[in-house]
Formats: sequence, structure tokens, C-alpha cells
Amino acid sequence: MDHIRRIFDNNRALVEQVTREDPDFFRRRAGKQEPHFLFIGCADSRVPLETLTGTVPGEMFVHRNIANQAMPADLNLLSVLQYAVEVLDVQHVIVCGHHQCGGVKAAMGDANHGLVDFWLAGIRDTIQRHKNELSVYTDEQAQFDRVVELNVLRQVYNLARTPIVQNAWKRGRRPLLHGLVYDLKDGLLRQLVLEVDGPDKVRRLLEADRRGVGD
Ligand code: CO
Repeated sequence: MDHIRRIFDNNRALVEQVTREDPDFFRRRAGKQEPHFLFIGCADSRVPLETLTGTVPGEMFVHRNIANQAMPADLNLLSVLQYAVEVLDVQHVIVCGHHQCGGVKAAMGDANHGLVDFWLAGIRDTIQRHKNELSVYTDEQAQFDRVVELNVLRQVYNLARTPIVQNAWKRGRRPLLHGLVYDLKDGLLRQLVLEVDGPDKVRRLLEADRRGVGD
């Protein structure tokens, strides 16, 4: 019970602190959301995205799942993406992976994890596609880090191929797609690919990873 009580205590303290400085802070946000970002991240508890990015409520539309997947047949993801792109008109879609991702780690091994193995099939596929590149790593941690990165790039690629994003690009330039990795060890966000804004940029991304991305 202590943990849940702490949540309410902290919430009250935060609201008091915020409204002391800005009495209308919450009222202003209650009417309407106009976020600039859709953030697709891992469900991992060590990735506190608002804290990491210094954003305030209302700035970021969020979708999180195990190992930050953006699978083209995932209705949950597609619903979030469509609403963010077509209704909220977000300028940026960020896929953010993180080092030491348990989902990625599980996909790299042979152990049976039950239901989650179905969810991780896309990462296994990415590992398979990049097996030549990955086989040159002698350092296990470096290989793990690289799979985390490849997984993010793959999800950016998936997003770029959705009709939702393709149609948005045909109508204009929104949204820009970005692939980031969060390093748990130093708290820093690192960029893998920024400002993917159309087929050419995606093509360059694919060429940089030609050995693994395939079609
Ligand atoms: Co993770």
C-alpha cells in the first residue's frame, strides 16, 4: 500500500507546486491537446520520457509497448498513428529504443518466453536480416547495442511504409520521422536517424542498412 499512497502524495505535491507558479496550468490543458510529437517507446520503466525530454503535459502523444515496436499489422499502433497524424497533425514521430532492452535481449536468445515471443518475432526477423553484420561483433554488449539500434531503424522503416504516413507525405511534409536511442547508463538520448520526410530520405536510410533491411 505504501507505493500506491506515495503516488497520490507525489501527485498532490506536484499539482501544488505547479499551480503555485502557474494557477491555470492544468485548466489550459484540459480543453484541447495540440501535441507536436508522437513518441513510440518501450514500456520499460527506466525510460521516463517526459523527464528525459523536458516536455510538459500536452506536448507529447505517447504509444509504448515492449521493445518499441511499430508493426504494420498492429491495430493499436495504427490507431494511435492515424489519430496523431491525421487529427492531431503532429510534426514529429519519434521511435525511441533504449540500451539494455529486455525485449530485444529476449529476441536475441533461444529461451522460450511464452506469449511475448510472438510479439518479438519482428526483432528476430531483423536479427536474421542483419546476421552478417551482427556476426562480426566479438563484444556481446556491442552486439546487443547494435540490435537495439537496428530495431529502431526497422520501426522507422515500418512507419515510413504505412499508408498513413505515405498519404500524409503526399499531402505535405508532415510528419518527420526520427529514430533515437536512450542510453540508460548516462541518461542521454542519441540520434540514429533524423528528419525522415519522404521516400528519398527513407531510401538513403535503407541504403545505409542495405544488408539487412531488404525489401
Ligand atoms: Co525495452
